[in-house]
Amino acid sequence: MPGFAALPTPVLTSAGVAYVHYLSFMLCFGALVLERRLIRPNPSKQDATLMVITDVIYGLAALALLGSGILRVLHFGQGSAFYTENPLFWWKVGLYLSVGALSLYPTITYILWAIPLRKGEAPQVSEGLAKRLSWILNIELAGFAAIPLLATLMARGVGLPGGAG
Ligand code: HEM
Repeated sequence: MPGFAALPTPVLTSAGVAYVHYLSFMLCFGALVLERRLIRPNPSKQDATLMVITDVIYGLAALALLGSGILRVLHFGQGSAFYTENPLFWWKVGLYLSVGALSLYPTITYILWAIPLRKGEAPQVSEGLAKRLSWILNIELAGFAAIPLLATLMARGVGLPGGAG
């Protein structure tokens, strides 16, 4: 096995992009778990502020996840055709986009919380809204848990017209 210093730059870049992909996935998942844990009717100012900050981290990590994923397709993976010809890849992208679309509702809700929070007040959150947000977060977590399964199958060529590679 070559020493760390002997590794060619493209290998390190590729490893770095893969690392960003995994790290941003973990950040997204962790942020969703924390939001799920904190959501309740009429949260305290501290909890509401923490949820707003967590959602910003979630949004940035989701962008990093998308960016690193696109880089892996285009430059650091097994060739773009290996992915684009596989329906499992499109299921993965579709699931990511669906989770992203679903997260618009909580995100817009938290943006509205910024108005009372800036006045030093806690946001008013009804029982119904808290329940709705909990369910959305549950579905997002299930989606995020399913995507790596599609990823590992896709990475091994399962779903390609010629069968698993
Ligand atoms: C549209 C967004 C995404 C794109 C374009 C994308 C693309 C990719 C690519 C090209 C690979 C490399 C596969 C290989 O080694 O041949 C990969 C691997 C992986 N991706 Fe993504 N990805 C995206 C989103 C996600 C999300 C949201 C997650 C997690 C929730 C995720 C989890 C993984 C995992 C775990 C692997 C490693 C698979 C393995 O090597 O076994 N990806 N992704």
